[in-house]
Amino acid sequence: MSSSESILMNNNVEIPQLALGTYDITNEEIVNVIESGLSIGYRHIDCAWLYGNEKGIGKSLSNQFKKGEIKRSDLFLTSKLWCSFHKFERVRQQCLITINDLQCQYLDLFLIHWPFAFLDQDPEKNEECQSNVDDKLDFIVTWKAMELLVDEGLVKSIGLSNFNEEQIERIIQICKYKPVVNQVEIHPYCPQIQLEIFCKKHQILLEAYAPLGAKNRQWKKENDPEILEDKTIKSIADKYNVHPASVLLRYIIDRNLVCVVKSSNHQRLKQNFHSINENQFKLDQEDFNKIHNDIQIIFRYHQLQERRHAKEYPFKHWKDFVP
Ligand SMILES: NC(=O)c1ccc[n+]([C@@H]2O[C@H](COP(=O)([O-])OP(=O)(O)OC[C@H]3O[C@@H](n4cnc5c(N)ncnc54)[C@H](OP(=O)(O)O)[C@@H]3O)[C@@H](O)[C@H]2O)c1
Repeated sequence: MSSSESILMNNNVEIPQLALGTYDITNEEIVNVIESGLSIGYRHIDCAWLYGNEKGIGKSLSNQFKKGEIKRSDLFLTSKLWCSFHKFERVRQQCLITINDLQCQYLDLFLIHWPFAFLDQDPEKNEECQSNVDDKLDFIVTWKAMELLVDEGLVKSIGLSNFNEEQIERIIQICKYKPVVNQVEIHPYCPQIQLEIFCKKHQILLEAYAPLGAKNRQWKKENDPEILEDKTIKSIADKYNVHPASVLLRYIIDRNLVCVVKSSNHQRLKQNFHSINENQFKLDQEDFNKIHNDIQIIFRYHQLQERRHAKEYPFKHWKDFVP
C-alpha cells in the first residue's frame, strides 16, 4: 500500500497532499468508504462535525486499527470547528467530541470551518446547525482557544478554512501559532491565484476543496457551469486518454497544493488516487497554462449566499468572490 506525497507545513509537520473528502456521505455509508479509501492508499481524511458522519468514520478507523494493518500514526486526520462553536469555552469541548467520535486520541489538523460565527447550539442537534449568525463573536477569540489545543496536545496543527486575506492578516497579527493551512474552494473556475500569492508570502499552505466542482451539491442551478464538462478540460483529458477528473486533480497537485476530493465509489476513489501518481500521467507546461490562465469562466460552487449579510462573510469584496 502506498501513500501520496507529503508537503511540509510552516510548523515542520508533513501533510499528505491528497485527502479523502467526507462531505455528503451518511454515517452508514462512510464505514465502507473509509475502508475502501485506506485499502487504496489514502492516508489523509478530511472530516468535519458538520458532515454528521464522524461517528461512522471512527467506527471504520477502529475496525482498521483492530485488524492491525493501520496504526493511528499512519494517518493524517483533519476536522473542522463548526460556526456554532466559536465561543472560547466551546472550542475544547467540541474538539473532544470530534476526537471521541473519530476514536483517534488526537487530531492532526483542526480548522475553523468558516470565519463567521453562529449562535451557540447543542452539539447533539446537528440539524440546527444553520442557526443565526452571531456577529459579536470575533474569530480572534476562537483562534486563541484553538492555540490552547496545540499546547495541550489534543491537536498537532491548527488552520483556517474559507478565510480571505484580510481575515488571515488579522490572525497573523495576534497569533502565537500561525495557521498552517487555509482550506478553500479551488479549481480552474476558481483558481484563487491572488490568495495563493498572499498565503505563500506567509508560508500558509492552500488546501483545495471541491476540485471536481462538487457536482453532488444540492443547491445546483440549471445554468451553473460544470467544470467536469468544460471543453478545455475535456480536450486535455482526451489528449492524455484520462478522465476529466484526473486532469482536474493533477492541476491541483502540480500547483503543490493539498487536494481534498470526495468519492463514495470504490472505482472512482481508485481512479482519483492513481491520477495524482506522476507515473500515470503528468500535464505538460502548455496544458497546465491553458487550464491556469486561459479558461475564462469564473464560478464559485460553495458560495453560502444565504450568509452574505454576516459581518465576516468572506466573499464580500469583488476580489474575494472573483478570484
Ligand atoms: N472547508 C469547507 O468549507 C469545505 C467545503 C466543501 C467541501 N469540503 C471538503 O472537500 C471535499 C471535496 O469537495 P466536494 O465533496 O464538495 O466536491 P468534489 O470532491 O469536487 O466532488 C465530489 C463529487 O464528484 C464526484 N466524483 C468523485 N470522483 C469522480 C471521478 N473520478 N469522476 C467523476 N465524478 C467523480 C463524486 O461522486 P461519487 O461520490 O459518486 O464518486 C461527488 O459527486 C468534501 O468532501 C469535504 O471534505 C470542505
